[in-house]
Amino acid sequence: MKDHLIIFDTTLRDGEQSPGASMTREEKIRIARQLERMRVDVIEAGFPAASNGDFEAVKAVADSVKESTVCGLARAIEADIRRAGEALQGASASRIHTFIATSPIHMEKKLRMSPDQVVEQAVRAVKWARQYTDDVEFSPEDAGRSDITFLCRVLEAVIDAGAKTLNIPDTVGYTMPEQFGNLIRTLRERIPNSDKVVFSVHCHNDLGLAVANSLSAVANGARQVECTINGLGERAGNAALEEIVMAVRTRQDFFPCDTRVDAVHIVPASKLVSGITGFPVQPNKAIVGANAFAHESGIHQDGVLKHRETYEIMRAEDVGWGANKILLGKHSGRNAFRTRLAELGIELNSEEALNTTFMRFKELADKKHDVFDEDLHALVSDEAMVLQEHYRLLSLIAHSETGEMPYAHVVISEDGRESRAESEGSGPVDATFRAIEKILISGAELQLFSVNAITSGTDSQGEVTVRLQKSGRIVNGHGADTDIVVASAKAYLSALNKLHSKLERAHPQV
Ligand code: KIV
Ligand code: ZN
Repeated sequence: MKDHLIIFDTTLRDGEQSPGASMTREEKIRIARQLERMRVDVIEAGFPAASNGDFEAVKAVADSVKESTVCGLARAIEADIRRAGEALQGASASRIHTFIATSPIHMEKKLRMSPDQVVEQAVRAVKWARQYTDDVEFSPEDAGRSDITFLCRVLEAVIDAGAKTLNIPDTVGYTMPEQFGNLIRTLRERIPNSDKVVFSVHCHNDLGLAVANSLSAVANGARQVECTINGLGERAGNAALEEIVMAVRTRQDFFPCDTRVDAVHIVPASKLVSGITGFPVQPNKAIVGANAFAHESGIHQDGVLKHRETYEIMRAEDVGWGANKILLGKHSGRNAFRTRLAELGIELNSEEALNTTFMRFKELADKKHDVFDEDLHALVSDEAMVLQEHYRLLSLIAHSETGEMPYAHVVISEDGRESRAESEGSGPVDATFRAIEKILISGAELQLFSVNAITSGTDSQGEVTVRLQKSGRIVNGHGADTDIVVASAKAYLSALNKLHSKLERAHPQV
């Protein structure tokens, strides 16, 4: 019997720490449902003490996920742990993940605590967390640069205090694969009570070694890997879930363990996360990049045609490529539509929301021949934004012609009041954004504009992400439409709506 390798996904927590990757509560629920469908063991849903928004998002994920354990992060501070415990109350299975730094540089310069104080605080934190759940994980932050004798001391103490998982983070992505593997083996050998816990790893990708380090740890006895979809995460990111899962599965001759992940959900999950965060996936990215299974050279094509395994070590369909089913056509009924949404884990909160989304689906089916699951996700995101709209696009005329200056005319409603403006620009999108700015004078700084075709074919919907920054707040807006200028206008307004509600929450009287 092979050991079980636990997959702990932290897309919603460490992934969200990528600058600009913030997600709304609804977006987090959609990603969490996809992770659950993929049979991820543990979903780290956020850091409840970080803000009320984080607390609410962790709570909402805890309340809606049934098959995976839902985890909340907490510093080794009583108030943080209490917040995490409260947010996780509704979960079918909950875990609290508490951490404190153990490297000399972090203890001295950041925490300003002595090693003895750090051990005491770590033990206290695990005991506090055990009041809320039996499933407590402890991380010695910056373990990769910590003294191994000190690490053994802290870890032995937290096992005695009741921790069930010890997660060893390479917080700054500093270690080398062999070194990190040795660290895991040494900790397992030297800590007397190490057989009572699962060893986990959490590697950052600053030197491009997060996956290699994680796999080296697995070869040396780690049985949980913390990872994210598309490798999203703080700075250069975390180990990519899809690479860990497929490396272990493809090399069953090498690894003594396997995950329970249903790999066909990997590509849809990658697209969902990329669409929501606006972080595109590079074409040559392993497993989920558009070229990951494309053969260009004649020799390779010839080989694959003669015998697929000459150049392919995995099958594209096993990770979800080509899995996007044709959904429904323009003759499909409301019930079939509702059923497919449910199969995709999408729940609309009222009959009214279902009716409007269904109407939009019909409009889309009129314009576009085949409607895929990805189209449905985009449609629902769009609809969720419409419901929170302060600014709404009423109409848009964009004109571009060779040799002529592109031009746009927009009509927007702001809290029911209609305004219109026109502008020229370097292209139709630029003209549209300028016209919108003439009306709303937001002064927000555009940090990112990206367009992605949701499915293949020129009739595909374009999904646009716009990232705006104002007064230290960063928001991502999304819009989808078969007309990419319209999609861009929707994305710009969606970002402005998010900024508006953030600023409104911060200064309700304004
Ligand atoms: O990178 C890190 O050390 C972390 C911890 C909170 C586990 O994210
Ligand atoms: Zn991290």
